[in-house]
Amino acid sequence: MEPHVLEHLGADDWARGRAIRLRALASDPDAFGSTLAREQAFGEAEWRARLGSPEARTYVVRGAEGDGGLVVGARYGEDAGLFSMWVAPEARGQGIGALLVQRVVGWARRTGYPRLLLDVADANEPAIRLYRSQGFVPTGVTGICGDRPEIPEHQLALELAPRP
Ligand SMILES: CC(C)(COP(=O)(O)OP(=O)(O)OC[C@H]1O[C@@H](n2cnc3c(N)ncnc32)[C@H](O)[C@@H]1OP(=O)(O)O)[C@@H](O)C(=O)NCCC(=O)NCCS
Repeated sequence: MEPHVLEHLGADDWARGRAIRLRALASDPDAFGSTLAREQAFGEAEWRARLGSPEARTYVVRGAEGDGGLVVGARYGEDAGLFSMWVAPEARGQGIGALLVQRVVGWARRTGYPRLLLDVADANEPAIRLYRSQGFVPTGVTGICGDRPEIPEHQLALELAPRP
């Protein structure tokens, strides 16, 4: 999947955003708090609202084969949150996940958030390794993954430098 181009999606890109998000939920159902069935039921208005929110940014990685990665940064209380991280199976292990994390870190820092938070399943070793390599550390907060009581998860945080 070379070369990789990171693109920001807006409301008018809702069909593209829907396609890659549904592919992620179908491919890796245990990585996310939401489900394929739940998001398949969303209509155009819901996708437009998600992608067009002034408090969120959706980035995709486009390669020769089409869209192969997705991440969302969004306000999460006083902090920013990193959500929906996904890289297509055939594109993993090439640093695309790291690129997507770095893009959200840049957005969160520019926007002035003090921290970037995310939740990851305790058993999701590739994702934990990726986040730890990008400087995220456990906050001590634990929980369960969305509506999935069988999937314990924990929170990681990256402290962001204050704005100059
Ligand atoms: C977790 C996930 C996003 C990681 O994506 P990725 O693109 O494979 O991540 P990266 O390539 O940036 O890093 C993964 C590994 O590839 C290595 N890598 C980075 N650049 C590389 C390159 N050019 N060549 C080979 N390997 C490379 C990284 O060092 C890392 O290695 P490690 O496993 O030894 O630490 C991906 O596995 C995924 O989508 N999983 C399913 C969904 C999921 O779990 N999402 C997270 C929800 S919290």
